Amino acid sequence: MFDSYNRHINYLRISVTDRCNLRCRYCMPAEGVQMMQHSDILSFEEILTVVKSAVQLGVDKVRITGGEPLVRKGIVDLVAMIAGIKEIKDLSMTTNGQLLETYALPLKNAGLMRVNVSLDAVNPMRYSEITRGGHVQKVFDGITAAKDAGLSPIKINCVIKKSSDEPDAAEVAAFAKTNGLDVRFIREMDLENGEFYIVDGGTGGDCSRCNRLRLTANGMIKPCLFNAMEYNVRTLGVEKALRLALENKPQCGTSNFGGEFYNIGG
Ligand code: 5AD
Ligand code: SF4
Repeated sequence: MFDSYNRHINYLRISVTDRCNLRCRYCMPAEGVQMMQHSDILSFEEILTVVKSAVQLGVDKVRITGGEPLVRKGIVDLVAMIAGIKEIKDLSMTTNGQLLETYALPLKNAGLMRVNVSLDAVNPMRYSEITRGGHVQKVFDGITAAKDAGLSPIKINCVIKKSSDEPDAAEVAAFAKTNGLDVRFIREMDLENGEFYIVDGGTGGDCSRCNRLRLTANGMIKPCLFNAMEYNVRTLGVEKALRLALENKPQCGTSNFGGEFYNIGG
């Protein structure tokens, strides 16, 4: 499918939950986040209906995100359901890695192809500070399990303030090199103030090449991370929500007041 600026849209990012087992400082407040109601969260069947409809329109690349996707109950079953759609050529997940050691092999067996693992520091104290309580060793064990399971390639997402020369980032780069992993540095963004940057090595943040639509955990199709517009698949119906998102996908992002990474999925 093509949008009104003739961009070929073939990539759907699905946030399966707004919940997370970490509280990264740049993503979530320490406490007091208003979580979605259980009844607002799409069922696996509803998600599958959206994916099938998007695939009919030409989507062949799907990424599962959150929040943290591995905290969604039954996530392996959902991956298997999506992997069963044969038109999908690329099926990946973005995870913080805290639960990856347990899930890597089941996910691979369910048909997941690859993972992006968030890792902003390798020093245990720094990692715990940034994530407000995460264990970096769990990420390392998760990466090992992902390698052993054959999830490939494994990419590291490393959020930086401004530059990959920052100490934490330099250590992550060294770790990635030692372990044969691709690392992508992502400058910290600010949705409300519309501060976003091109992610090196990908199409993220590069509006003229943007090929994505997003589905939030509560059933909104969002044509742009940096725009508040969203189309409800339950009230509009899946096909209309997808069509409206496509037609109204802005030429370039501006700002998204009220949107959060943990409920849109980054
Ligand atoms: N800026 C940039 N990326 C962010 N993420 C979450 N919050 C932000 C932010 N403010 C992204 C990171 C992280 C993923 C889960 O979401 O890439 O690794
Ligand atoms: Fe959770 Fe990812 Fe946000 Fe960190 S960045 S709080 S791991 S959703």
